[in-house]
Amino acid sequence: MKRIAIFGSGSGSNAQKIIEYFKASKIAEVALIVSNNSLAGILERAKKLKIPSHVFSESEFNQALPVIQLLKQENIDLVVLAGFLWLIPPALIQAFPDSIINIHPALLPKFSGKGMYGDHVHQAVLQAGQTCSGISIHYVDEEYDTGKIIYQEAYQIDPSDTLELVKKKCQCLEHKHYPRIIEQILSNLK
Ligand code: GRF
Repeated sequence: MKRIAIFGSGSGSNAQKIIEYFKASKIAEVALIVSNNSLAGILERAKKLKIPSHVFSESEFNQALPVIQLLKQENIDLVVLAGFLWLIPPALIQAFPDSIINIHPALLPKFSGKGMYGDHVHQAVLQAGQTCSGISIHYVDEEYDTGKIIYQEAYQIDPSDTLELVKKKCQCLEHKHYPRIIEQILSNLK
């Protein structure tokens, strides 16, 4: 059984979908939730869904070793970022080669980089007058949103679309595809 750790700083709606998706799986399970914010909604969801969680301070996280030790102790095979706002330290990336992935709410490389998260992304997409946007699932490297792309899917934006509607369209694709892409990756992991 492969073991997944999900890192999140926010509401955790993707984490919930991933946990539910693997609840009856024979391939993998969500073994740990990691956050940088003790008030994050993702921790509430972890508690309700009985998934162990851990909160790191910024200094602990940036040392990398405390995170690596916890992930190794929990025999984690894949680290899944879902709304995690901090850059992943190089030592953590080296400890989990090709085993840390992220989901970004735009069609990379567009609308990416430091500060481009959540509503900021959708506002930029609308301000740019885009007629479509989408989701990108990618491997994590030492910069924000620049790792090798694994999967992308687009959705149409109509001129009358509000920020809320664009967010909904995006979130719908995230919830539909992130769990199954994770399953595909874990099925191919040695
Ligand atoms: C999602 O929009 C995802 O694309 C981005 O952060 C958000 C996380 O949302 N990386 P949630 O906390 O999973 O609801």
